[in-house]
Amino acid sequence: MMRALVLGGTGAIGGAAALRLAQRGWDVEVTGRDASRLPPELTAAGVRFHRVDRGDTEGIGRLADGGPDLLLDVLAYTASDVRSLVPVMRDAGSVVVISSRAVYTDAHGNHVNSDEPPRFAGPIREDHPTVPPATGDVDPFSREGYAPSKAAVERAVLDSGLPVTVIRPSKVHGRWARNPRTRAFVAPMLRREPTLRLADRGMSVDHLTAASNTAALIEVVAGRPGARILNSADPDTPTAADIPTAIALELSWDGELELLEPHVTAGDHPWLTRYPIVLDISAATSLGYQPVGLGVDLLREEVRWLVGGSAADRAQQRGPGSPAQADHPGRLTRPGRPSRAADPPRPTTPGRLTRPGRPSRGGQGGRPRASAPGGPPSRWDRRPAAPAAPPGRCALPTRGQRSAVL
Ligand SMILES: NC(=O)c1ccc[n+]([C@@H]2O[C@H](COP(=O)([O-])OP(=O)(O)OC[C@H]3O[C@@H](n4cnc5c(N)ncnc54)[C@H](OP(=O)(O)O)[C@@H]3O)[C@@H](O)[C@H]2O)c1
Repeated sequence: MMRALVLGGTGAIGGAAALRLAQRGWDVEVTGRDASRLPPELTAAGVRFHRVDRGDTEGIGRLADGGPDLLLDVLAYTASDVRSLVPVMRDAGSVVVISSRAVYTDAHGNHVNSDEPPRFAGPIREDHPTVPPATGDVDPFSREGYAPSKAAVERAVLDSGLPVTVIRPSKVHGRWARNPRTRAFVAPMLRREPTLRLADRGMSVDHLTAASNTAALIEVVAGRPGARILNSADPDTPTAADIPTAIALELSWDGELELLEPHVTAGDHPWLTRYPIVLDISAATSLGYQPVGLGVDLLREEVRWLVGGSAADRAQQRGPGSPAQADHPGRLTRPGRPSRAADPPRPTTPGRLTRPGRPSRGGQGGRPRASAPGGPPSRWDRRPAAPAAPPGRCALPTRGQRSAVL
């Protein structure tokens, strides 16, 4: 039987990988600090938990005795995290270390945690420039320190000379996430707030990574060890408006999404970016990785987990006659204004786009269109980045107001 050891295996990525492997017949052990956070689904699949801190290299060494077929480290934040584990890595059949897309820089050296947002020319490949690795004492959990620390992790991995795969996820979603971003919409939708506002016309694109898609990639890599770096992101590139639309469908929320103009300082949300951030995943697909689903569909897993059950379950709890789902999730509205040719946001998820003073436009429903895995997102060229907000009215939080973007 194949054996996997997952360091940090009760959260989003580690949990999804542990579950996937266990369901495919692997013997899976996971570590964490808190046994009560082991998801029941993992217990049911036979996953075993060990309370071992990531800093306890001896404890990890004991667990890895005999050499697991896969060692997955979700918790490498510094070069010394990696170096301390090299003896354990040497004995493993395949090793995967989780990094982040936060390491990528644009032509001006800006990255997702810079004061100036990065502006990438298109989907980002793994050979794209990254921030210099951290040297000395840097807090890997600070906004300034996160990307350089992850770059140092990657450098330490490559310097080890071992066949370790580094995976760079984008914005992770999934069950068991310690930071479930969908909560930003789930909470007000559950409160049945009638209107939710979305900055920048809901057009920004910040590539999502379903933990279950990353888990599928990890399984591929487990069978094909190698020293490499791979992006991990969903096959689709939903806009910010697509995300609450998907959540609304899951929660049968029938309110209104108000798409604000770019200069309006309101409607902040976790996927707000000034320019699109999209990862090229062709290196992963050329290894044989196949996503398990679209990001907008898999997002609903996180929502179901957050609210404790599916829409059908909740309808059953409400009693007979309750619809399991609204047939549309609500309305998207934008302030009335002259239309502009290059101003689509055409909703790609079910719903209606209505504008005050105009007839509603039906028939725009349907599933989001997936770009070919690895290929450029189909909407990249069609949707120009939103213009920068005028000085003093920047909708993005300023330095110090937000923590590190992962
Ligand atoms: N989340 C994102 O959007 C994102 C994006 C890009 C990259 N990443 C990278 O992905 C990794 C995190 O993955 P995730 O989002 O799936 O994590 P997560 O949901 O936060 O889960 C973290 C896991 O690690 C365990 N853990 C945390 N600190 C620990 C410690 N000191 N010792 C032992 N176990 C510990 C947690 O369990 P306990 O709480 O019980 O300890 C949990 O099992 C990180 O490397 C992060 O940099 C994340």
